[in-house]
Amino acid sequence: MMIKEFSKDGQRILWGDVIQCLETVRNESIDLIFCDPPYNIGKNFNGTKDKWKSDESYLSWCYKWLELCIQKLKPAGSMYVMAATQNMPFIDIFLRKHLTILSRIIWYYDSSGVQAKKYFGSLYEPVLHCVKNPSEYSFNSDSILVEARTGATRKLIDYRKAVPAMYNSRKVPGNVWYIPRVRYRMPEYEEHPAQKPVALLERIILASSNPGDTVLDPFSGTFTTSFAAKKYGRLSVGIEIEEAYIKIGLRRLNICSEYNGEILCPPHKSYKKKYSDESDNLTLFERDNAATSLYRQNY
Ligand SMILES: C[S@@+](CC[C@H](N)C(=O)[O-])C[C@H]1O[C@@H](n2cnc3c(N)ncnc32)[C@H](O)[C@@H]1O
Repeated sequence: MMIKEFSKDGQRILWGDVIQCLETVRNESIDLIFCDPPYNIGKNFNGTKDKWKSDESYLSWCYKWLELCIQKLKPAGSMYVMAATQNMPFIDIFLRKHLTILSRIIWYYDSSGVQAKKYFGSLYEPVLHCVKNPSEYSFNSDSILVEARTGATRKLIDYRKAVPAMYNSRKVPGNVWYIPRVRYRMPEYEEHPAQKPVALLERIILASSNPGDTVLDPFSGTFTTSFAAKKYGRLSVGIEIEEAYIKIGLRRLNICSEYNGEILCPPHKSYKKKYSDESDNLTLFERDNAATSLYRQNY
């Protein structure tokens, strides 16, 4: 397959197969990589079925692009990898040979629908946070502070201080992250079966990269990673094989408003707006505060 490239203001889109596209990226040129591959669970990506002949063939394909991603990462770079829960142990073992895994993150969400009636339904996805060099990597803890949710109903006072003061209730998030999945009525919704929330990528990008850094996503889908990277002044390289999703990326990154004579529009939704578009502009901090007050009302 030929590779086609689009770019504007430091945001690059590569349309093609992941292996071929990664081969064109300069070695040790990327600060942060976020990998959200097909999970081998039979999802339909614009007509292409996410299913390999065997677990072995799926995993050996994963090892190929993972190895290339590691080559492209700068010596002080960071890489986050998602995978289906059943495949993550293999990917974890593979990555441990090449990188240091700093955190094994659980991204969890809820669903109003019944997930399963005869077993505990799956409502989380694992994410590995890895670095090439554990003595030198970016981690901007001050940019991702959240409100501690200890269950305390009032602010506690630290009397050990010379002048008693309230305990600091802001903290670096732990490795269990509650972030709602993208639902149809949310302003960020795009037509894709595995779109990740902007809030998930915001936390990763703010923590593990700096303005002007280059962020790569080898399976861009709706280009959530590039969208969040651009929002925070990072450069991006997004790879995707499906033309329908390339068009989403071109629009979301404002690279062009027309493609082959077609005006690129957000998905048409047949319902009355529930959320205001302003919620799109909320910072991670503001959204976290909103989530904290919801939590306090419920517990
Ligand atoms: C899990 S989705 C990524 C979703 C993305 N993180 C988002 O927020 O929208 C995986 C994506 O990988 C793409 N893909 C599958 N095989 C690919 C390949 N060989 N090369 C490049 N992209 C591929 C699929 O079309 C799909 O959009």
